[in-house]
Amino acid sequence: MPLTPATAEFDASPLRGRVVLITGGAQGIGRGVAQAVLGAGGSVMIGDLDAEAGRACLAEWQAGERAAFRRLDVSREASVRRWVEAAQACFGRLDGLVNNAGIADPHSGPLERLELAQWNRYLATNLTGAFLCSKHALPSLRQARGAVVHIASTRALQSEPDTEAYAASKGGLTALTHAMAVSAGPQVRVNAILPGWIATDAWRKPDARRRPKLSRRDHAQHPAGRVGTPEDIGTLAVWLLSDRAGFVTGQCFVADGGMTVKMQYA
Ligand SMILES: NC(=O)c1ccc[n+]([C@@H]2O[C@H](COP(=O)([O-])OP(=O)(O)OC[C@H]3O[C@@H](n4cnc5c(N)ncnc54)[C@H](O)[C@@H]3O)[C@@H](O)[C@H]2O)c1
Repeated sequence: MPLTPATAEFDASPLRGRVVLITGGAQGIGRGVAQAVLGAGGSVMIGDLDAEAGRACLAEWQAGERAAFRRLDVSREASVRRWVEAAQACFGRLDGLVNNAGIADPHSGPLERLELAQWNRYLATNLTGAFLCSKHALPSLRQARGAVVHIASTRALQSEPDTEAYAASKGGLTALTHAMAVSAGPQVRVNAILPGWIATDAWRKPDARRRPKLSRRDHAQHPAGRVGTPEDIGTLAVWLLSDRAGFVTGQCFVADGGMTVKMQYA
């Protein structure tokens, strides 16, 4: 046997036989991640507040027993517990968790007028939701030697005015990433994706679906030459969930077409 094994061929179905839970998986980035997991041979349990959107996914995907949906509110522990139990009952194993559900609008108004209830709402969905789902999925993920991916945001690193609650929730997710990686290893790897501008209009439920209205300037301001898509995030999530990323944990991956490395002076 040679000391250096021959280069492995690229596996087009790296998630075959694996089961991945995806919060907020019925629309937007979460739906993109779910379709990427299905495309990589895996099965998905999507959870979402919007039951109509969840049912539409199952009807459109026609993935048979490889896709399931249950209504979920990530901010409520009882709902999270039921969702994880349903996934376990449905598939008999859990290999991956993608904590994607979030209040995606970063603008909450001037800090001086930000109500505590509004601040708490952002934190409850965007950060506490990831904690609750991780807490309830972890025993099964440990058994399967699985992986967690948190969907944070480049707004964990940089801001526009009046976005404190959203930015704090996403910064919290990046800290949760390294904390969990240390606690959940060696059985479970934990990483985060920090998306930049991702156009999700075409990834909504059928009656809310729109062609994205993007100008040439919107695309051109990105060093990569375009605004991002849910597929861009799905591709990275599949890699992080797969054994190909077996030596990668506790890391934050920016997927933003290069916007955060572009120096800007007014
Ligand atoms: N779109 C972007 O440009 C962008 C950029 C960076 C980060 N993100 C993050 O990516 C994630 C997805 O964003 P998106 O743009 O696809 O949003 P979206 O609004 O298009 O989709 C979010 C989905 O999550 C669901 N959801 C909301 N609250 C929930 C809850 N409490 N429990 C369960 N499901 C819930 C919604 O019903 C919806 O289907 C969010 O965490 C967002 O902060 C988005």
